[in-house]
Amino acid sequence: MGFLIDFNGTKLLFDPFITGNPKPGPIKAEDIDSDWILVSHGHGDHVADVEPIAKQNGNKIISNYEIVEWFGKKGVEGHPLNHGGKFNFDFGTVKYVNAIHTSGLPDGSYGGNPGGFVVWDDKNCFYFAGDTALTRDMELIPMTCPTLDFAILPIGDNFTMGYEDAAIAAEMIQCDVIIGAHYDTFGYIEIDTKAAIKAFADKGKKLLLPGLGETIEL
Ligand code: NI
Repeated sequence: MGFLIDFNGTKLLFDPFITGNPKPGPIKAEDIDSDWILVSHGHGDHVADVEPIAKQNGNKIISNYEIVEWFGKKGVEGHPLNHGGKFNFDFGTVKYVNAIHTSGLPDGSYGGNPGGFVVWDDKNCFYFAGDTALTRDMELIPMTCPTLDFAILPIGDNFTMGYEDAAIAAEMIQCDVIIGAHYDTFGYIEIDTKAAIKAFADKGKKLLLPGLGETIEL
């Protein structure tokens, strides 16, 4: 995992996982230039590089209360949110939304409940689902947030929804452009990417699968 989104000039880093990643890609943690780090839940493959990157870049994190507290003890400041809550930051609004998953932190600490983020300003809006099952709660997003330009959804199955369920999620959130996440990193979640693209195309949706280290414009 790990996505860096240049959101109208503010660089938002989501769930950085480079150290210990079986497929780390070409980008090194020390080369990442970010303004904020958003952490969806406490699992090691989402928090691995949060502390060093936050310290090198002087970033604060945005996450649930328990994860913000945990990083606070390591000297990383943060802004806590809880489910259903939103806050207006200088770059835009962030809402912490429901995810069906677990959230234990690497040292066994309680990581609160997992979530996803909807981020918007007056021009754009996107949804970063984090790790989640398909859930009807996703239908609340188009009811309560601006129209989505794109969404980042897990598609790897086993630990999250697979691509078939993610294609249904794309319908629930009323979003036509989906970036696939949480697949192919390790054995349990290797998928047939052609079949995944077709599952979305069959519903009139576009599934984008950028390569490691690849930058795309949306
Ligand atoms: Ni997870």
